[in-house]
Amino acid sequence: MRLAGKVALISGAASGIGRETAALFAREGAKVAGGDIAPFPSDFPGLPLRLDVTREENWEEAFAAAERELGPVDVLVNAAGIAESGSIEEASLESWRRVMAVNAEGTFLGCRAAVRAMKERAMKGRGGAIVNISSAAGLVGDPRLAAYCASKGAVRLLTKSVALHCARAGLGIRCNSVHPSFAETPMLERMFDAARDPARLRAGLERASPLGRLGTALEVAEAILFLASDAASFITGAELAIDGGLTAA
Ligand SMILES: NC(=O)c1ccc[n+]([C@@H]2O[C@H](COP(=O)([O-])OP(=O)(O)OC[C@H]3O[C@@H](n4cnc5c(N)ncnc54)[C@H](O)[C@@H]3O)[C@@H](O)[C@H]2O)c1
Repeated sequence: MRLAGKVALISGAASGIGRETAALFAREGAKVAGGDIAPFPSDFPGLPLRLDVTREENWEEAFAAAERELGPVDVLVNAAGIAESGSIEEASLESWRRVMAVNAEGTFLGCRAAVRAMKERAMKGRGGAIVNISSAAGLVGDPRLAAYCASKGAVRLLTKSVALHCARAGLGIRCNSVHPSFAETPMLERMFDAARDPARLRAGLERASPLGRLGTALEVAEAILFLASDAASFITGAELAIDGGLTAA
């Protein structure tokens, strides 16, 4: 029970990595609130909240609702995200703005709301943790994903800025990022569906991974769990690749 007694708020919890993280956190003893714009599955193991991460006021409402129903929030996972493909020659300004609004601004608003909501208790020794989902595409460039790479690079360095601020101000809140490569989720399924030859694309991605396969949402959730838990009490501002070795090459 690695999160016994903790309350966690997870954005993007209706699907994929966020959903898997919510289930794992609940198994590990956390009380979980999920925030999403999409409908939640009927077996969601916690409090489903309507949260559009791009809307400032939604964040305040989500933290207030989680605290009212479950108790003060100890952990925030910023898992909501969207992917739109397009090289620098193809990507439209509208696409850039959509991707930056959810992935970069949404994570900024989430971190800010979390620090405001958590710092009083965290400073008294309770501690607090934020885990941001960046991407392997926030560590290395991908020519097909101009806006997505930029948004995930922003998440990587926002994480370090938040971590340093919280550490230097003695707030007791840690902030770290995880960097998955290709993990089997509905987001990846949509990418395969849009491809001219999905089987060829899948085989290519598997070949590109030094471990020779795609990841699973649970493998990403396990890394998020570690960084959210007290086992990572001396880790802040760190970036953890969950990519089968992709970015080690
Ligand atoms: N699957 C991968 O291979 C992979 C790789 C690297 C990074 N990631 C990142 O992991 C995170 C989760 O992705 P996933 O693969 O589980 O995708 P997913 O599409 O299965 O889940 C993303 C969730 O975010 C929600 N969401 C989108 N916009 C939102 C908004 N404005 N407000 C609130 N919720 C919103 C969606 O409704 C969805 O439930 C994303 O940040 C993604 O960029 C995924």
